[in-house]
Amino acid sequence: ARGGLLRPIPSGVYGVNAQMLNDVESACYGEHASNLGAMVASELVSEIKSSFAKQIAAALGYVYVDTGALYRAVTYFAWTNGFIDSKNRVDKTWLKKNLYNIKIYFKTGDDGRSYVYLNGNNLGDSIRTLEISKRVSVIAALPFVREYVDEILRRYGIEKGVVMDGRDIGTAVFPHAELKIFMTATPQVRAMRRFKELKESGREESMEDILTNLKERDFLDENREMNPLTKAKDALLLDNSNLTIEQELNWIGELLESRFGIVMKR
Ligand code: DC
Repeated sequence: ARGGLLRPIPSGVYGVNAQMLNDVESACYGEHASNLGAMVASELVSEIKSSFAKQIAAALGYVYVDTGALYRAVTYFAWTNGFIDSKNRVDKTWLKKNLYNIKIYFKTGDDGRSYVYLNGNNLGDSIRTLEISKRVSVIAALPFVREYVDEILRRYGIEKGVVMDGRDIGTAVFPHAELKIFMTATPQVRAMRRFKELKESGREESMEDILTNLKERDFLDENREMNPLTKAKDALLLDNSNLTIEQELNWIGELLESRFGIVMKR
């Protein structure tokens, strides 16, 4: 409702500021946020949705949290240590045993961008390769992995003032989020965007491989037992198949203004 919690929070007063976010490590934290004043983008699109969520966060003075990056970091850890093999068979006992001995956290890299670190190492774009994408949904379906990541996420959420994107944020992690947006687009459009992104960063993958991976991940994410990917009942649907980023930002700008009286800085 108008006058609710969705407003820019002065950093360092009771919001999570960027510095805190950078310094938070994956230390376990058992509390659950009961009434979050966060905004949640729960989506099906890859980088487009993160740049969208980042811009909303910047406009509101909120902190942006890319939850998929944490699942990707756990997958990277499992893959590079042989806890998941090329046939996607997981050594659950060892992964579980080692998960609580590692530190996964966000930190600003030398270029000023936020990166995921694993035990002091910047994982950079190595969490975005197809190798990792092919395994992340298998790892993310494991209940102990979800609990591990949820603990990190709830810790950010407790302070409020966050924009999170991820596949179960509005339904499972922060069901009381103040605003939920479910972004989607057709698989073909998403695959094409991903293809272009990869190409721009100098990594060529075939459209066919990308599309297959995308569909497989959706299927696994939608059908896993714990917190499957689904649109929360109270989430607003944003199908951006035919929208430019500019049009998307207009959409959210109008929404924030009419609902909360917030004028988005652009
Ligand atoms: O947002 P992304 O494409 O980087 O996410 C990668 C995978 O991580 C996604 O296919 C499923 C998993 N994930 C999840 O299970 N829950 C989330 N909140 C975020 C991501």
